[in-house]
Amino acid sequence: MSAFPNLTLLDHSLGRHSLAILRDEKTPSSVFKDHCHRISYLLIAEGTKHLSTTEKTITTPLEEMAAQQIDPMPFWVPVLRAGMGMLGPALELFPESTVGHLGLQRNEDTAEAEFYYEKLPNDLSVYPIFILDPMLATGGSACETIKRVKNYGGKDIRMLAIVAAPEGVHCIQEKYPDVQILAGALDRELNTQKFIVPGLGDFGDRYYNT
Ligand code: PRP
Ligand code: URA
Repeated sequence: MSAFPNLTLLDHSLGRHSLAILRDEKTPSSVFKDHCHRISYLLIAEGTKHLSTTEKTITTPLEEMAAQQIDPMPFWVPVLRAGMGMLGPALELFPESTVGHLGLQRNEDTAEAEFYYEKLPNDLSVYPIFILDPMLATGGSACETIKRVKNYGGKDIRMLAIVAAPEGVHCIQEKYPDVQILAGALDRELNTQKFIVPGLGDFGDRYYNT
């Protein structure tokens, strides 16, 4: 059995291609954004392929037929600010879906996630919930997000990440073994500053060009 039963890695040539561009330090912010969106489409398509559908009778130009429609629609939780880079693709694929926001910022000295904003509806129990955050490093931000989503009744929770570190995957597995992670890559480790290596640097800074 894998060391991480809670982790699935995206297996797509386009995903590997986008990751190479995202990781390259020479990639300018405009291209970085583009490939963040491209790999997000792949992660979202793969991560939602299990969603339940209900039968609905529709009429084609030729006849009536039973068709399948996604129900319930997903609930997205982009973690501010880098997670917002994955939200556009999510809403393009699921324009009828719903979004809650969480603001967390790693303290630059301690690397601990500090909370600053939350906007979630009262009852999340009915939704398939997807946390969107491109980087899963120590897992501090992800675990804080999961805790808050569960406080609002969230049950069916998954995380979509572009790059994950073993430390972060382990942290979620220990605290929330019911939460599955889909990631574009599992990197080697964290460095002493708790950055993912080889990684891609500071995702938010590269996406927002700050
Ligand atoms: C990054 C990233 C995650 C977090 C991951 O955000 O987007 O939220 O770090 O690190 P962790 O697993 O060790 O918690 P950051 O705090 O840099 O904020 P930003 O998105 O506003 O740039
Ligand atoms: N956040 C980032 O943006 N990059 C890392 O490597 C770790 C946390």
